[in-house]
Amino acid sequence: GTVVLAYSGGLDTSCILVWLKEQGYDVITFLANIGQDEDFEAARKKAESLGAKKVFIEDLRAEFVENFIWPAAQANAVYEDRYLLGTAIARPCIARRQVEIARKEGAQFVSHGATGKGNDQIRFELTCYALYPEVKIIAPWRIPEFYSRFHGRTGLMEYAQKHGIPVPTTPRAPWSMDSNLMHISYESGILENPKNHAPADLYLMTKNPEDSPNDPDVLEIEFSHGVPVKVTNVKEGKSKDSPLDIFSYLNEIGGKHGVGRTDIVENRAIGMKSRGIYETPGTTILLSAHLDIETFTMDKEVRQIKRGLDIKFAEFVYNGFWYSPECEFLRHCIAMSQVNVEGKVQLSIFKGQVYILGRESPKSLYNEELKLTVKSLCPHVNTSPYHCLARTTSL
Ligand code: ARG
Ligand code: SIN
Repeated sequence: GTVVLAYSGGLDTSCILVWLKEQGYDVITFLANIGQDEDFEAARKKAESLGAKKVFIEDLRAEFVENFIWPAAQANAVYEDRYLLGTAIARPCIARRQVEIARKEGAQFVSHGATGKGNDQIRFELTCYALYPEVKIIAPWRIPEFYSRFHGRTGLMEYAQKHGIPVPTTPRAPWSMDSNLMHISYESGILENPKNHAPADLYLMTKNPEDSPNDPDVLEIEFSHGVPVKVTNVKEGKSKDSPLDIFSYLNEIGGKHGVGRTDIVENRAIGMKSRGIYETPGTTILLSAHLDIETFTMDKEVRQIKRGLDIKFAEFVYNGFWYSPECEFLRHCIAMSQVNVEGKVQLSIFKGQVYILGRESPKSLYNEELKLTVKSLCPHVNTSPYHCLARTTSL
């Protein structure tokens, strides 16, 4: 049979490629560019030289921003109050395209290099089953013969040497990383001990706020339907207006000022706790700005219900249910709640922080005059006339 392997170019999935061939499969590799730092041409050559029958390398960055990061932004997506879901949101984007390729190539099998104790296997596989229910999944790290043979790096290294698989020459960082446009995550290795501090040189996307510039950048983010349509650097007078450019620029400015670092212990889908370190500069800025313009333009009672949906949404995404009836339902509700979420937020980005400076909107529900009138009419501002007056018919 033919298998489409989610290939990263690294040692693990290179060994999996060769091992799948050994098991008698024709292997097609798929590598998605979702903004990770990777030499894609080198990965292509590597996959070809290891005997991949076909090699797909595709730039999914714009799609990742528009169809995945934007809906998450509308939902203020945060897991367990702190994790902005950079890996969890990327998985359905990658796996969706992978099963599309599998269908097109007539492949009955898909494969991945995620371990048997993590979240990624679940996200990957639930996406595949949702979009290609007949597909068969090969998860080598859950196959006893594979696991017992390759468990521990020496197994992989020996296998690589024997089969002409190039092994990394630069020393490996003592932790594992997952990187895309949204974030870089760091886990395992020396980080497994939750009291160990992250070394200063771990962070690759953000500057240490202690060394960040002494001048803030002031941004104006313009929203329509709860997603950014333009970002302007107010002092420099420069603007970006395509989704990928906007998001990349938020990353650049956030990274420059050390915005979006978090070190947490989280609850994985399978039940264990795990320590993770994340840097998510652009999304951290976007989340602050979105929360601000949303509160400004959204009815009080709608907002209260939506906050509950936001939390549910984040849990579904974390647990791999992006493509599920329940998550689809939430995405529609949330998208509908955003019809009037438009306007501009000005923010200052400085020393690891996002400071809101002001906001304006044609759909603002804030009424200065009303507030003054009500105060003079009614000294007890918490009484129901005030409540009723302040509500509007707008969604
Ligand atoms: N704990 C995070 C999550 O579940 C990050 C996972 C990182 N994945 C990886 N293959 N290194 O979303
Ligand atoms: C893995 O175990 O493959 C990475 C961590 C995770 O998926 O949670």
